[in-house]
Amino acid sequence: MIESKIKVADNLLLSPMGCGTWAWGNRFLWGYDTTMDKELQQVFNLHVSQGVTWFDTGDSYGTGKLEGRSESLLGKFTKEYQGDHQDEISIATKLAVYPWRLTPQSMVKACEKSAERLGRSIDLVQMHWSPAKYLPWQEKPLWDGLAQLYHQKAVKGIGLSNYGAKNLQRAYDYLKQQGVKISTLQVQYSLLSTYPFVKLGLKELCEELGIQIIAYSPLTLGILTGKYQDLKNLPSGPRKGLFKGLLPKIKPLLQTLEIMAKDNGKTMAQTALNWCICQGTIPIPGAKNLTQARENIGALGWRLSPSEVLELSSIVLSLEKQMIQNIFQTE
Ligand SMILES: NC(=O)c1ccc[n+]([C@@H]2O[C@H](COP(=O)([O-])OP(=O)(O)OC[C@H]3O[C@@H](n4cnc5c(N)ncnc54)[C@H](OP(=O)(O)O)[C@@H]3O)[C@@H](O)[C@H]2O)c1
Repeated sequence: MIESKIKVADNLLLSPMGCGTWAWGNRFLWGYDTTMDKELQQVFNLHVSQGVTWFDTGDSYGTGKLEGRSESLLGKFTKEYQGDHQDEISIATKLAVYPWRLTPQSMVKACEKSAERLGRSIDLVQMHWSPAKYLPWQEKPLWDGLAQLYHQKAVKGIGLSNYGAKNLQRAYDYLKQQGVKISTLQVQYSLLSTYPFVKLGLKELCEELGIQIIAYSPLTLGILTGKYQDLKNLPSGPRKGLFKGLLPKIKPLLQTLEIMAKDNGKTMAQTALNWCICQGTIPIPGAKNLTQARENIGALGWRLSPSEVLELSSIVLSLEKQMIQNIFQTE
């Protein structure tokens, strides 16, 4: 089960899959409530014990009374975990580009707050999105803040999220002048969100620049698990409308995924995640309970054949519709 780790920066090794924790504090989309915490701790423990040792969070995962809840939970779980791979736990957080974060110091302070909630230092700090489309002058001071964090050794690596190729190249050049190398780029990537590769050309650029791509929402918010195929049994909240629009258009993909999963003795979720891994990305599926966690971890330890990868990729290209992109995704 345990696979070799991927080096993304000096002293920073990530397992080939991480665990996303947006749902560990978010009520609006994910229906989080504190009664879930006991099981979430078991989810955390299971991941680490199985060698999936890094967790993606964000300072906006939990707002209002739940401010920073996902980070606080990860702090508690990390502190209380005792077992295999304890020393390998890594935390990646994302700092939101709130309109009041305008200076380098605001990023440094935000990172300090996150570290306080986590009760430990942060391994990978990521800028959650780029303000390039609506407040371009906000961007450079925030990049400066990331550079400061790196030079102060407050973090081991820095990453960006929701950047397209043009914007990533700008950031790369700017930070390079300051002696900082971008380690990772996190984008929405899955069988139903190939836009970052197909349209934005991020695969080629990231390979050229030595930046590791992290695939967020790799199960397309759960639809690729196959459990939401009946229009009468859709999740409540914003996913309902999204899935209603998608389901009639993605049948060929779900059918092939189901057959391929059976052929390999795997599930649809495991197959969808494995496809992301085969594309050279590190997926970070969200898991809300132990059953989901067990299943997702089962995406490791095997690989789809090249012809299976190709078959899925070509079906995806023929689909009429894919998942909508994050409004903050730049070009
Ligand atoms: N950088 C960014 O802007 C950004 C944006 C989004 C996400 N992210 C990161 O990426 C992580 C993952 O993305 P995501 O949570 O949006 O979506 P996802 O991983 O595609 O889907 C996660 C959801 O699918 C369902 N699920 C997961 N595993 C399952 C399984 N094995 N069987 C059945 N259902 C399963 C669960 O929801 P239900 O049980 O409710 O169906 C779960 O919350 C986030 O947690 C976050 O860390 C980053």
